[in-house]
Amino acid sequence: MIVTIDGPAGSGKSTAARGLAQRLGFDFLNTGAMYRAVALAVTRANIPIGDAARIVELLGRTLLEMPNERVLLNQEDVTELIRQPAISDAASRVAVVPHVRATLVGWQRQIAQGRNMVCEGRDQGSVVFPDSPCKFYLHAGLETRAARRMAELGLKGCASTPSRVLEELKIRDERDQTRDVGPLIAADDALWIETDGLNIDQVVDRLEAHVRCRLG
Ligand code: DC
Repeated sequence: MIVTIDGPAGSGKSTAARGLAQRLGFDFLNTGAMYRAVALAVTRANIPIGDAARIVELLGRTLLEMPNERVLLNQEDVTELIRQPAISDAASRVAVVPHVRATLVGWQRQIAQGRNMVCEGRDQGSVVFPDSPCKFYLHAGLETRAARRMAELGLKGCASTPSRVLEELKIRDERDQTRDVGPLIAADDALWIETDGLNIDQVVDRLEAHVRCRLG
């Protein structure tokens, strides 16, 4: 069974998805990490985001593996490297390219095939797994999300300012919501959860209760 969790950056979906997967004994797929790894590969190859033909060619010779929540790009562990702010921006730009989306959607379906999995991203309920019986959309106000992102960056020792983080989130939101293919959107049958004012355990409690109710 596939459970999908979508939502904007900073809505808490990765932490919630990981927590839910642990409670259910499911695997967890962070699809944002896949877009980040592709963005890293494109950046390293010095390919402009507008050069779709070269990106297609690059993807054809790229091996992306996700064992135990690590991200391996052509067998190199890039798990930490792809969390940098520059890669966040590049990932949201590369995610606009239709061929990149089509390729990653295929890889995501392959990875999830026959498994119990919590899949987290922007288009998991709307495009990748439309038949999932359990879909969630996590949301939070921009200020809450910016504060979370600041705390996250602080933990990693990355310096930034609240106004810069807020501005970067706004730009990413706009790009993620307005792209033609696979925009960030709540599936019609997704349960919408506002996470402002909720701690992570409270969010996971709600997700778990809903899934268990669905499972009967
Ligand atoms: O979840 P994240 O912040 O790590 O995602 C990085 C970028 O990847 C995000 O700005 C948009 C893109 N993304 C996407 O387009 N579709 C997904 N399913 C997951 C992420």
